[in-house]
Amino acid sequence: MKTVIRGGTIVTAADVVHADLLIADGKIEMIGENLVRFADEEIDASGKIVIPGGIDPHTHLDMPTRSTQTSDDFETGTIAAAAGGTTTIIDFAMQEKGQSLFDVLDIWHKKAEGKAVIDYSFHMMIGDLSGPVMDEIVKLPEAGVTSLKVFLAYKHTLQVDDQTLFQSLLQSGKSGTLVAVHCENGDVIDTLVNKALSDGRTDPLFHAITRPPDAEGEATQRAIALASIAGVPIYIVHVSCKEALEQVIRARTDGKPVYAETCVHYLVLDESAYSKPGFEGAKYVCSPPLRAKHHQEHLWSGLKNGFLQTLASDHCPFCYKEQKELGKGNFSLIPNGVPGIEDRMTVFYTAGVRSGKISVNQFVDITSTRSAKIFGLYPKKGTIAAGADADLVIWDPEKEKTVSAQHQHQRVDYNLFEGMKVKGVPAQVLSRGKTIIKENEFVGSAGWGKFVPRAVHTRFHG
Ligand code: URP
Ligand code: ZN
Ligand code: ZN
Repeated sequence: MKTVIRGGTIVTAADVVHADLLIADGKIEMIGENLVRFADEEIDASGKIVIPGGIDPHTHLDMPTRSTQTSDDFETGTIAAAAGGTTTIIDFAMQEKGQSLFDVLDIWHKKAEGKAVIDYSFHMMIGDLSGPVMDEIVKLPEAGVTSLKVFLAYKHTLQVDDQTLFQSLLQSGKSGTLVAVHCENGDVIDTLVNKALSDGRTDPLFHAITRPPDAEGEATQRAIALASIAGVPIYIVHVSCKEALEQVIRARTDGKPVYAETCVHYLVLDESAYSKPGFEGAKYVCSPPLRAKHHQEHLWSGLKNGFLQTLASDHCPFCYKEQKELGKGNFSLIPNGVPGIEDRMTVFYTAGVRSGKISVNQFVDITSTRSAKIFGLYPKKGTIAAGADADLVIWDPEKEKTVSAQHQHQRVDYNLFEGMKVKGVPAQVLSRGKTIIKENEFVGSAGWGKFVPRAVHTRFHG
């Protein structure tokens, strides 16, 4: 069956054109004028923009932590993603101590298969680089996994030392695997956390106080330096502050292959959230933490000027009741992570495009195209072109809504952006040509989403 999306304004990272789009067999077949004559079905997009489906490069679905489990699985999490205009996610498959990376991949495939409603891929999140793991890193691309994440924070659990980071960078260089790094100095943070707790400081606010921007800046500088010595590219996840961004700017200005992501929550929320009454601040506990408001203007400038390439949700949802509450009386036990898979694009569109901070082409580039390029999904995903998957969002730039937990698809008992008014929302979302969201209603099916093996990163596409 052939479908035409007619009368819309097609927006890619590069262009804005008024044209019809012909879809056949889940792919874009043709872009042009008056294509309705070729179609069995038509979708009217007049007054709307048609954009490539969003790619969220950083999610944590169905992920165990030391005390609990993220509250969205691959079904609820990907329905929420789709409702917000995202048609591909790259989720973090998490290795437990001693596990083979290929066993971890099997586990993550089982979590996603039959559940995901949009396409997905995996990064490998590594906490233990001993035994055969270093050899396995080189073989991961054969399984379609071309990126790793390692941690310079979370002492006693996931944190690796500099030698291990350096060795994993060297090893990844052999197969072209891109290393993503969580940059916070875990030793400094551990010391500050212990001191705060021994001083009787147990509130959520101390989560932010014990993870200062300089601890992120220092670790970012170190990770970039080690990648530079190893002669490999590096991807810095969830940049939250000026101190870290400055290191990225310096490296990119020097021509180094350094890529960096920020998250929607760092752009519109700030550390004052931790002082909400009672234990409410726990809802905002994530690492790195929300920062003082002035960091936001630096992050926006980093996005506008191309120093930050991608926008993630870092969706890592825990319910307030019973999950965030695990840290009552000790902020260091609050599960780290916030929900945002559903709101990433709508909040960013309003705060970025509506306010004039970024162009609509940059919106597409940052929410979709750049992730596709950096992570080896391009041009199958991340653009509108003949031959690309018909992952498309018919976006209504004039429609308004108030963000609220009451109307969300995410399986979590609060919304991080509660009460925010947004203008510009998905009217219809297609995954490989099939409509899966219509006016905020899910009309797709569990299991429609397929694993997408990724190519290795090339500098040409970065
Ligand atoms: O607080 C966060 N970001 N939780 C998820 C794990 C991570 O570090 O990305
Ligand atoms: Zn992280
Ligand atoms: Zn994360």
